[in-house]
Amino acid sequence: MALPLIAVLNGPNLNMLGLRQPEVYGAATLDDVEALCAETAEALDLAIDFRQTNSEGELVTWVQDCRPAPGRPGAAAILINPAALSHTSVALLDALLAAERPVVEVHLSNIHRREEFRHHSYVSRAAVGVICGLGIRGYALGLTALAEILLDTPGGGMPGGGMADGGAAEGGRAR
Ligand code: DQA
Repeated sequence: MALPLIAVLNGPNLNMLGLRQPEVYGAATLDDVEALCAETAEALDLAIDFRQTNSEGELVTWVQDCRPAPGRPGAAAILINPAALSHTSVALLDALLAAERPVVEVHLSNIHRREEFRHHSYVSRAAVGVICGLGIRGYALGLTALAEILLDTPGGGMPGGGMADGGAAEGGRAR
């Protein structure tokens, strides 16, 4: 059975989780985040493509690749922690708008309790929802929300594609 594919994309410095400011981001590593996402996705009948990059350009390209094209299945939805690019990148916002997939933005920390410059996220304009301050469980909650969005609205209201077997789907699920 083909499962809807969710792109789980992580921005700069998230490879440093576990080492980086544990008082802010917690002790879990990015491998722990990936394991939680894999476990959650399995329970929800989703497939995930989990990635991290320190490069804005690479992240933009990965978002562009979420849109189905001939020979490329794309992804059904996007769960993204854009990290610092949340606060700076119009290019990432534009890519997410062009992807025409449901997007959930996640942050480990509560960006609204932190420095003023973290309070604004360009990415939020492209997101159906934003989860912040709940640590790595925010990723599990984000996947759960996207599973429900894909079930409620065939294709999340977006153009088809995004199935893990490369097929196009009318709805978000191959059922
Ligand atoms: C973050 C919050 C951002 O402000 C910061 O630049 C990050 C991580 C979070 O997950 O809390 O790198 O996105």
